[in-house]
Amino acid sequence: MNDLDSLVETARQAFAQSTAPAELENAKARFLGKSGRMTELMKGMAQLSPEEKKSRGAAINLAKQAIEAALTARRQALSEAELERQLQAEALDVSLPGRQRGQGGLHPVSLTLERIEGLFGSMGFEVADGPEIETDWFNFTALNTPQDHPARSMHDTFYIEGGDEQAPHLLRTHTSPMQIRHAIAHVKRHRAALDAGQAIPEIRVIAPGRTYRVDSDATHSPMFHQCEGLWIGENVSFKDLKYVFTAFCRRFFETDELVLRFRPSFFPFTEPSAEIDIQFQQGPLAGRWLEVAGSGQVHPNVVRNMGLDPERFIGFAFGMGFDRLTMLRYGVSDLRLFFDGDIRFLSQFQ
Ligand code: PHE
Repeated sequence: MNDLDSLVETARQAFAQSTAPAELENAKARFLGKSGRMTELMKGMAQLSPEEKKSRGAAINLAKQAIEAALTARRQALSEAELERQLQAEALDVSLPGRQRGQGGLHPVSLTLERIEGLFGSMGFEVADGPEIETDWFNFTALNTPQDHPARSMHDTFYIEGGDEQAPHLLRTHTSPMQIRHAIAHVKRHRAALDAGQAIPEIRVIAPGRTYRVDSDATHSPMFHQCEGLWIGENVSFKDLKYVFTAFCRRFFETDELVLRFRPSFFPFTEPSAEIDIQFQQGPLAGRWLEVAGSGQVHPNVVRNMGLDPERFIGFAFGMGFDRLTMLRYGVSDLRLFFDGDIRFLSQFQ
């Protein structure tokens, strides 16, 4: 091998060993740069005769072209390798599960509320809404609840500070004040007909919402949900209460085998009063009596506070805790799960 061939070979090897563009450019400088090997060879031609110059010059040119070709090929190879590396790094694995936005859904207690509204709606009840901060009058007095009633004690009720001592504000302890609020509005709408002794539309309403009591354990929460029901007319009886509530419960729990029991009880605002118990015939709760609501025929004093004549108007009311209905329907044993906001629990209802 002559000196030129071996120089080309050395250059090829140097290029091959360069694994990064900067390294390759350094190698190029050693062979093709101003003070590189090629320039050295050219200078060495100065002493040659014209004949020798011609053939030596041609040979050097060939060697130079070979080195340049090797350089270009290596540059190309390195840039292709770099491109390949980038593509690898940015590769998408289309088999990976996508990143999704979580889908929201209704809270189980809201699902129950929708059912209640739907079922009572189908029986001609409208839905009313009212304040959670109540006056002492709507929450107790108008509901025939005397000053010394235990529900009025500080232990049971959240009073709001700084109000009128004679007429304090409080967080409503039940949805029953909505009986009065709704009836008063109804009476106001039909004042003229009433005064003329004419018939007026019946009051048939449910009023769901939040209620508050000083109470907290696995089955009681300081904030809970109730739904009030009220049906007042000229000829509404306990029989209607039994019919309506039985129909509601059987449809709510989707079983006609459900048995209801009206157990005598006491509420200041109803007379007679009853607790409503239900009994499943099948499933894990079969045979047990479960209390779901308080109810009764609206007390004449309450009818009077609604602005109606108790000699003419009569009806019934009920109040049910629908957190409890939700627990029974879905088999949830701890009420607090509803208010913890744990997505692992809540997502099971979607
Ligand atoms: N308000 C009563 C309670 O919270 C329930 C009830 C409502 C009872 C209507 C009778 C009539 O316990």
